[in-house]
Amino acid sequence: MMPRPQMTTINRQWRLARRPSGIAKREDFEYVEASYPTTPLQDGEVVVNNYAFLCAPTIRNWMDPPGNSLYPSINLGQVIMGPASGVVVESRHPDFSPGDRVATISSWQDYAVIRPDQSMTRVLPDDHGFIEAVGVFGLNSLTGYFGIREVGAIQSGDRVLVSGAAGSAGSVAAQVAKLGGCNVVGIAGGPEKCRWLLEDCGLDAIIDYKSEDIRTRISELFPDGINVFFDNVGGEILQAAVDNMAEFGRIVLCGQITGYNDNAAPEGPRNMMRLIYGGIRMQGFLVGHFADRFDNALRDLTEWERSGRLAHREDVRSGFAAIPGAFNSLFDGSNTGTLIVNIDA
Ligand SMILES: NC(=O)c1ccc[n+]([C@@H]2O[C@H](COP(=O)([O-])OP(=O)(O)OC[C@H]3O[C@@H](n4cnc5c(N)ncnc54)[C@H](OP(=O)(O)O)[C@@H]3O)[C@@H](O)[C@H]2O)c1
Repeated sequence: MMPRPQMTTINRQWRLARRPSGIAKREDFEYVEASYPTTPLQDGEVVVNNYAFLCAPTIRNWMDPPGNSLYPSINLGQVIMGPASGVVVESRHPDFSPGDRVATISSWQDYAVIRPDQSMTRVLPDDHGFIEAVGVFGLNSLTGYFGIREVGAIQSGDRVLVSGAAGSAGSVAAQVAKLGGCNVVGIAGGPEKCRWLLEDCGLDAIIDYKSEDIRTRISELFPDGINVFFDNVGGEILQAAVDNMAEFGRIVLCGQITGYNDNAAPEGPRNMMRLIYGGIRMQGFLVGHFADRFDNALRDLTEWERSGRLAHREDVRSGFAAIPGAFNSLFDGSNTGTLIVNIDA
């Protein structure tokens, strides 16, 4: 049994100080040294001591003002929400005990009060470390896995295009499609990411959107059209894919990162008649829609990763102070793999 933290234990926090305009700046966050949570736990709550934080692009959407009823808005002065792994230190939930190692939707602080039933909280298998739990066996990998299989409904032989392919969710989607017998082309920024996708992930071809014309390359690589497009980016990349879909193709809307810093709703594709005449399905999803099937997916991902069939890389930054700065690497592409801040040092 781990010792219970004292009320005098410092609880470092990153709070939202003001709503960002464009890319979040250091001044948009406030560093606070609060104390260990003092309000008595309610039934169904636990306290988690966070060890590793996953930097997820959609946290930037949550920093926007309220108004979109489908996703949360972090209040000014509130600790920034985000996925994390850590250890339960107190529990009033029947399924969680002090000492349990968990992954959950937490917040950027040492000690967070969590309602496991509302935050995708799961106990980690013994052989999954804290970094792996938000990395290769974390929510982004599950996103790639369910998005390409269930929403993309891939079939062996499908011609698949993945944007954000060198990223955390995208690289798993692309490789799961390869494992499913598809021909897979990835879109990524820069020669190093493209090399990794070709040599380590085994993709069939790559488009470097920073140095190549996407439309030209898509039409060269997909003369008979795209069967499945897994999109992390939106904007003109989505438009180019829509214009090159095959009949009865599926577009998987995973993310729209190109618009997250715009302070405006991202635009959709312009020619929806193509979807009608092509019988093309475009569907969004959240990884949480598949939460009741995470265990099976994690078994697959673990077997593939341990047997060397799933390449993955984690970009781990160190120290609590690093969280806001690290977060912005998602938007300039300087993260190489799943972006994690480890404070278990
Ligand atoms: N639906 C869900 O449940 C769910 C769950 C998790 C994540 N997501 C979404 O999945 C996407 C990827 O998230 P992730 O956590 O895996 O991050 P990631 O792909 O590991 O990192 C973000 C990457 O996006 C690319 N990027 C950033 N700005 C861009 C822009 N303006 N145009 C084109 N590419 C840009 C960069 O790669 P390059 O260097 O290649 O440009 C960057 O490295 C995001 O849209 C996220 O919101 C959705």
